[in-house]
Amino acid sequence: MSSPAVIDLVAGARPNFMKLAPVVRALSGRSDLRYRIVHTGQHYDEAMNDVFFAQLGIPAPDVHLEVGSGSHAVQTARILERYEAHLIERRPDATVVFGDVNSTVACALAAVKLGIPVAHVEAGLRSFDRSMPEEINRLLTDAIASLLLVTEPSGLENLRREGVSEDKIKLVGNVMIDTLRAYLPEARAKQTARTLGLSPKQYGVVTLHRPSNVDDPATLTELVKTLRSFSEELPLVFAVHPRTRASAERAGIGPLLAPGQDRFICVGPQPYIENLSLVADAAVVFTDSGGLQEETTVLGVPCITMRDNTERPITIERGSSRLVGNDPGRLRAAFRDLRAGRWKTSQEIPLWDGRAGERVADALAAWLATRSNQTSTVLVGR
Ligand code: UD1
Repeated sequence: MSSPAVIDLVAGARPNFMKLAPVVRALSGRSDLRYRIVHTGQHYDEAMNDVFFAQLGIPAPDVHLEVGSGSHAVQTARILERYEAHLIERRPDATVVFGDVNSTVACALAAVKLGIPVAHVEAGLRSFDRSMPEEINRLLTDAIASLLLVTEPSGLENLRREGVSEDKIKLVGNVMIDTLRAYLPEARAKQTARTLGLSPKQYGVVTLHRPSNVDDPATLTELVKTLRSFSEELPLVFAVHPRTRASAERAGIGPLLAPGQDRFICVGPQPYIENLSLVADAAVVFTDSGGLQEETTVLGVPCITMRDNTERPITIERGSSRLVGNDPGRLRAAFRDLRAGRWKTSQEIPLWDGRAGERVADALAAWLATRSNQTSTVLVGR
């Protein structure tokens, strides 16, 4: 019997961890594939990192690159250099990357340059906005990956339009939704809102971290003031991302995000279960996060998306998300519609069924088996 193929599963930033967990679970039961978890260290705070590994039962990383924060070039370069050194020392048969963060593109690039094939989970999403760092990461990763695992039909269309051959693409569904479905009962039982003195469906949740919303002091100040005005009508829980906290301090509006306010409740980044609990029980979510657009769609919670575009159009077409950008007038109009009950309900999304991790594992196994057959044919033919 041939020895199992070894694959590196790469994770680095918070949104990667929810996607990694179901794939680890699906691979754990297989004898034809062995995995190693590689953590780049892009996110490192307890609240952005360790707590997710603990809550989601992800084994400790086999390798930690400890790159930390930095400019895009510095962070990406550090990951490239350190992951390449690991690949040279302990070469895997393939590298699997997730999502669209800097760790995704950097590890994909390091691997392909050494002739190691790359699979991309959450491939094909496009916002068509190249001012977003994630869009650049998505385009580059998909251009060099040789297995593209897609969450929603738009991803298939985008890849086909870009000329990717059909045999490289597979619609597998959404692994992040596997995690949501697995932990929803625990999250509902947790009733995190009650610990903040709030009743289910009597409050909203806010998250903001995109550079386009938080890096410019004037934009961030306007947004925070607008949201704060909504809290007079509906209490809001704002889980403040470290990037947003730092930017608010620089803009001189740190006190607006101080803890201890009655109706504009500012807390730090939430652990996975607590966040899911808050979102599932919310009347509305205000966000610029791609993941939350998808999660609210599955939970049927109205989502006011503070972006001008989305790489996840299914959340608009079939989900509960509406794009409103960051103009206070449009934000107020959306909030009025929501309060007046003028909001669409979401529909089921095919393959967002809690089994995507298994489909990813099957696709990886089939892909690696084909590759190893091709390699042996070439060797025998020589
Ligand atoms: C990154 C991803 C983004 C994702 C987001 C989720 C990229 C280009 N961006 O954005 O797509 O939606 O993660 O959170 O990869 N910081 C801490 N503690 C940490 C990590 C970061 O305090 O554990 C602070 C640092 O000041 C750092 C800043 O947050 O400079 C930004 O971190 P970074 O990883 O560069 O980008 P995010 O904004 O988190």
